[in-house]
Amino acid sequence: MSSSFNPLEQSGVPVAEQFRSWRELNVDPVDIVGGDPYTRCRIVVMNGIEVESIMFSHQFARHTDNPEVRRALALSRRAEQMQQKADNWLLPGSDGPIETTIVYEQVAVDLTAWLARMEPDPYLKQTYDFGLLEDFDHLYRYANLLDLVKGQKAEAITGTVTEIMPGRPNPEEFRHPDDDLRRHYDKHTVDPRSRLHVMTLVAAEQQTMNYYMNAGNIPTDPMARGLYLEIAMIEEQHVTQYESLLDPLETWFEQWLYHEYLEVWLYHSFMEQETDPKVKAIWELHLNMEIEQLKVAADMLRRYEGKDAELLLPASLPPAMTFEPNKSYVRQVLAEQVGYRADGLDIEDRDGKPSKATRGYQAIVNGDGNYSQDVIDVHTERFGRDYRLQTDGEHPVDHREMAAAGRDGGAR
Ligand SMILES: [Fe+2]
Ligand SMILES: [Fe+2]
Ligand SMILES: [Fe+2]
Ligand SMILES: [Fe+2]
Repeated sequence: MSSSFNPLEQSGVPVAEQFRSWRELNVDPVDIVGGDPYTRCRIVVMNGIEVESIMFSHQFARHTDNPEVRRALALSRRAEQMQQKADNWLLPGSDGPIETTIVYEQVAVDLTAWLARMEPDPYLKQTYDFGLLEDFDHLYRYANLLDLVKGQKAEAITGTVTEIMPGRPNPEEFRHPDDDLRRHYDKHTVDPRSRLHVMTLVAAEQQTMNYYMNAGNIPTDPMARGLYLEIAMIEEQHVTQYESLLDPLETWFEQWLYHEYLEVWLYHSFMEQETDPKVKAIWELHLNMEIEQLKVAADMLRRYEGKDAELLLPASLPPAMTFEPNKSYVRQVLAEQVGYRADGLDIEDRDGKPSKATRGYQAIVNGDGNYSQDVIDVHTERFGRDYRLQTDGEHPVDHREMAAAGRDGGAR
């Protein structure tokens, strides 16, 4: 299938025929190490996308009194729940959340970097670049934790497609809420790709936030629990940031349409790239389901708001979201923007200097130490250095400079 794919002109599996048995939904998981690391990344993205669709549908149902709309939402939602189970159950189990966490942060790095590279709007792109350096740092912190608690190298999970080294140091990511809100796009003028990009990041960051909220207390080691607690709070900031980019004046019916379209775009993208045939078959099946879910949303939009989905959606699917290495892009953003900070709605080159509000916030939360720093210090104490995976040479930010500014992440 080429880029001239218009889902409104395709036919798939009717929504009323989308239920599946427990044994079909309880899929064989992929391995957590080896294989194609981007297969695991695609699984994590689609799980987050389905979770967002489900929670959106629940919220819509709580805000409408129309029995027909509530029935249509409940029907599609049951199918979305089954899709979410099949997607998420593709990940294997483990004795704790840390291996899955490495995949989540690899997703955050290579998803955010790709979206930033492709983003047509400069303000949105700046916002993604800003978030990118923070999740890049999370990958580094958790990789050091994985080595400490399990003696396992993160690269067994991530492969060598993503580098692992300090980003914007986590202790400096804590911001006052005023510094996490951004300006929203305008629904009448926004490029359809930009809307898809923002919605993808909202869903991915929200899933990461939810995962750490719930899984962060599973470890028994106090340092591990502390690291999850801190990074969970950054993911709250990331959700606050990315959701503030959405135009709040999009109606419930429009949002329903866009949610289904987002699922179509991503399943279509991933089906084309998937290297694991078993997983590819699931992407293809789910794409065929989303096509009909999209048509239901389009039908409801026409009947209740008199709007034509054809006029709200692009004539063909935008270019596929692609998981691929973004190493040179990440290095470039790191070299140029590690000192950028937020001041209210804007992100600026402030040479590492936080706003007044954020200074006050950091004085409280970092007031008696910081687990993100501890994990690097303990690793350095035990093994003589921090864990990194630098496939493309030295860290792009001068070490002495970072150490002088207290931004070295603990590495010497
Ligand atoms: Fe779905
Ligand atoms: Fe993160
Ligand atoms: Fe994040
Ligand atoms: Fe859907």
